[in-house]
Amino acid sequence: MSLATRNMDKKLSCKIGPSILNSDLSQLYDESQRLLDSGADYLHLDVMDGTFVPNLTFGHPVVKCLRNKLPNTMLETHMMVQNPIQWIAPMADANVDQYTFHIEPCDDVSLVCRKIKEAGMKVGLAIKPGTPVASVEDYIELADMVLIMTVEPGFGGQKFMCDMMSKVKWLRDKYPTLNIEVDGGVGPSTIDYCAKAGANMIVSGTAVIQADDPPQVIKLLRNSVIKEINNYSKC
Ligand code: DX5
Ligand code: ZN
Repeated sequence: MSLATRNMDKKLSCKIGPSILNSDLSQLYDESQRLLDSGADYLHLDVMDGTFVPNLTFGHPVVKCLRNKLPNTMLETHMMVQNPIQWIAPMADANVDQYTFHIEPCDDVSLVCRKIKEAGMKVGLAIKPGTPVASVEDYIELADMVLIMTVEPGFGGQKFMCDMMSKVKWLRDKYPTLNIEVDGGVGPSTIDYCAKAGANMIVSGTAVIQADDPPQVIKLLRNSVIKEINNYSKC
């Protein structure tokens, strides 16, 4: 079945997935629960290997512990790693729902997608700011989502790169019901750019974690996206 046919009865929805990267990681479960209680639809877990990006975070043992405490939460791992295929089995064992990996270091992107599917997880394709958006096109049939990075991966709290919106818009115009995620510097002051360009899955770290009123920020992000989804789904 072609992507166009498959998409005909698919309805796009808005999902807000806070990144816990800049939270108090000694309280990972409490922080996660706080975000879920604030209205998060899923959690975006940033896994870094110190090679693909110049930073280290946590891996599958931590994700597995979190999963045990949150059996019903959608968990996405954003794999900023040099060898994505290496961590598919351990992350599947940790019951991760979606495995989002960067295509840049991969020799065979299709193979990685197939292995993720075989392991029972959804597939997310991620690209760094310097990677052309057309480079994901050959694999879109194999993917459940495309992540357009709006900062250089590696650290939370960076400045949103507005010029990445042309990538989001390019994808949205071509694929009306594709799940498109944005990640990096997204918050109340930048959400409208993302929403207007066509993003429907929103990762937000610092802006939610450090907010005085996280439920209010999540609501604001959601309302911006919903307003635009209703516009472009009429086209
Ligand atoms: C950056 C990570 C992001 C980041 C988001 O490499 O992939 O998920 O933590 O945090 P903010 O919203 O603070 O940029
Ligand atoms: Zn991320």
